[in-house]
Amino acid sequence: MKALVTGGAGFIGSHLVDHLVSEGLDVVVVDNLSMGDLHNIKHQDEVTIYVEDVRNEKFMQQLLQEEQPDYIYFLAAVASVADSIERPAETHSVNQTAVFNMLEYIRKTNLPIKQFLFTSSAAVYGNLPELPKKEDSRVDPLSPYAIDKYATERFVLAYGELYDLPTVCVRFFNVYGPGQNPSSPYSGVLSILTDCLQNNKPFTLYGDGSQTRDFVYVEDVIQALWLITKSKTAHEVFNIANGNETSLNSIIETYEKVAGISLKVKMMPGRDGEVKRSVANIGKLVKLGYTTKWSLESGLNKYWEGA
Ligand code: UD1
Repeated sequence: MKALVTGGAGFIGSHLVDHLVSEGLDVVVVDNLSMGDLHNIKHQDEVTIYVEDVRNEKFMQQLLQEEQPDYIYFLAAVASVADSIERPAETHSVNQTAVFNMLEYIRKTNLPIKQFLFTSSAAVYGNLPELPKKEDSRVDPLSPYAIDKYATERFVLAYGELYDLPTVCVRFFNVYGPGQNPSSPYSGVLSILTDCLQNNKPFTLYGDGSQTRDFVYVEDVIQALWLITKSKTAHEVFNIANGNETSLNSIIETYEKVAGISLKVKMMPGRDGEVKRSVANIGKLVKLGYTTKWSLESGLNKYWEGA
């Protein structure tokens, strides 16, 4: 069995690649290294790696023909709400057009795939009041990022239904853990917090810190992705999260305790397009056998030890 992982040198992608290798799959990675790093992949010498951009349509078509993957995990993305507001056109070309082009090619060539998994986001739920978010909760995408993710989900699911392709979508909540690149102001907040605590840098807090997120440790995310593949599920959407709501203020406090360091905080106004509260209902994933192995405290401890 062969798996193609786009964004395979990125934070979540590289953890997935290592897991797929350990499950005995042949793994092919495409990554333009915009945020990823080949060193993230532990099993580098057992993986076929292409340093390319998923927007290179010719290249992607050739790759699919030559490699004929059974499983496709589409993780390549501009992964930030704030970045998508700065660069909406570029975000769109990666987060929607590249995915669409691949689906279209699979349809036209009848490529015999076993599962096409698209990684969407909790951002699609926006600020509607129902909590926790279920996969069939109403959506209200507020940023170019969220709009692209939601529209692409719809393409992925409609292609699945209309052309009988085994497609599935996952909505990542806030994933953290080793390998998350802290170098951009648009990086995940826990990678930035780790960098600030480690290097005695001030942390910029956008808003009053009362915004909440559902933080999930990357190993639990990989467990979820693999369960979805093994279950041969198609035409479905799954939340991938921990199932707990945590405010930014509270995560800062917990992380300060874990690290034994007190953080310098610089307050800034809240960012545009942001979700105020976020927490998932993970019941659908639990039915597949998912159990969260990492609490916020144990996950932060592990992350901090390895940092
Ligand atoms: C994150 C993910 C996104 C995913 C979504 C699902 C990243 C970069 N983004 O978006 O891919 O689809 O979760 O819910 O991992 N913050 C600060 N200071 C900082 C950085 C962030 O205060 O230096 C705040 C933000 O304003 C926000 C919160 O922390 O309120 C979380 O921000 P971020 O980690 O960027 O995540 P999301 O926007 O939730």
